[in-house]
Amino acid sequence: MTNLAVVNREAVHLNGKQKAAALLTDAPPQPNPGRIIEMGMGFWPAKTLLAAVKLGVFTTLGQDALTGEELGSHLGLHERGVWDFFDTLVALGFLQRAGNGPSAGYSNTAETGLFLDKNSPQYIGGMLEMANDRLYQFWGSLEEALQTGQPQNEIKHVGEPFFVKLYQSPDKLSQFMAAMAGFQMGNFITLAKRFDFTPYRTLCDIGGASGALAIQVALNHPQMQCVTFDLPPVEPIAQKAIAQFDLSERVKAASGDFFVDDFPKADVITLGNILHDWNLEKKKLLIRKAYEALPAGGVLIAIENVIDNERRQNAFGLMMSLNMLIELGDGFDYTESDFRRWCSEVGFRRFELIPLAGPTSAAIAYK
Ligand SMILES: C[S@@+](CC[C@H](N)C(=O)[O-])C[C@H]1O[C@@H](n2cnc3c(N)ncnc32)[C@H](O)[C@@H]1O
Repeated sequence: MTNLAVVNREAVHLNGKQKAAALLTDAPPQPNPGRIIEMGMGFWPAKTLLAAVKLGVFTTLGQDALTGEELGSHLGLHERGVWDFFDTLVALGFLQRAGNGPSAGYSNTAETGLFLDKNSPQYIGGMLEMANDRLYQFWGSLEEALQTGQPQNEIKHVGEPFFVKLYQSPDKLSQFMAAMAGFQMGNFITLAKRFDFTPYRTLCDIGGASGALAIQVALNHPQMQCVTFDLPPVEPIAQKAIAQFDLSERVKAASGDFFVDDFPKADVITLGNILHDWNLEKKKLLIRKAYEALPAGGVLIAIENVIDNERRQNAFGLMMSLNMLIELGDGFDYTESDFRRWCSEVGFRRFELIPLAGPTSAAIAYK
């Protein structure tokens, strides 16, 4: 019999007040449904934040404070939802409000002003814009993805490769590039500062998208010459980003197909959220190609939401893997020990894991 059952049985003979006291003092913590409800309804806060980014709440506020009426009218919102919407953002910690009632001023928090105002150089909302426009609806078909093992996005009924289909739309291409850069920027900056680049001179970022990683490494390490390699439609976007940082001398954009073309040779090869896009056979092919492109002593760095070896803790990494099911079908995220095993098979000798921002790590293999 559990302690709780003993307490409950004895409590039958007590009056109401005594019963409550007995339950309060002696009972072990009771299972609490709060977290179940909060998680199950987790799409409420998620969609509120995504809608705020999409509608431009944080960009409209910028450095200013506006009343609810002013902010609602700038955004073209119907009066019915204005107060609930803005006050929910206050309660969730994404807006501040000075005072109460119609004259109260809404303003950005330190975080939303820095990261979700489009005029801030540190804007990271691209990922949330893409989550709002694409992933939010595709995750609505998670059950079907789990039952069929098939992607649930734009390629669901067309059978075309994901990147081919996505990049047919210039808007989706540029939104995807902004999403990737915003999502990984904190990780790239941390890697550039935390990993010891001093023994190396050249880096190639395979699947480098708009060049964000190559740019950060070049900014932090004047000795480094970098190449960012991606599919042809991506090259002009990377060129533009490199030029904006005035780094055209030391960062080059190259294009090709990483399954078909040899990787450019370099001392350091990086794969940012690349391996998780593909099935095991393709993952191993990319790791082998990296090994072949590196000199002795060269290093391969995968920047991903590396899952803990027991697959118990990194919930974000595990959900990222579900996201790969939704987006690519047979792509999946992996643990550090998976990475070590695959890299050992092709000849890498030494390994390291550097935690980056949040749930992301750099899985490192030395040739
Ligand atoms: C998930 S994104 C990761 C982008 C970036 N490395 C990051 O960490 O944010 C995958 C990248 O791989 C590129 N890619 C996909 N298939 C490719 C291929 N066959 N050859 C070259 N690049 C490819 C995509 O264009 C995209 O930029």
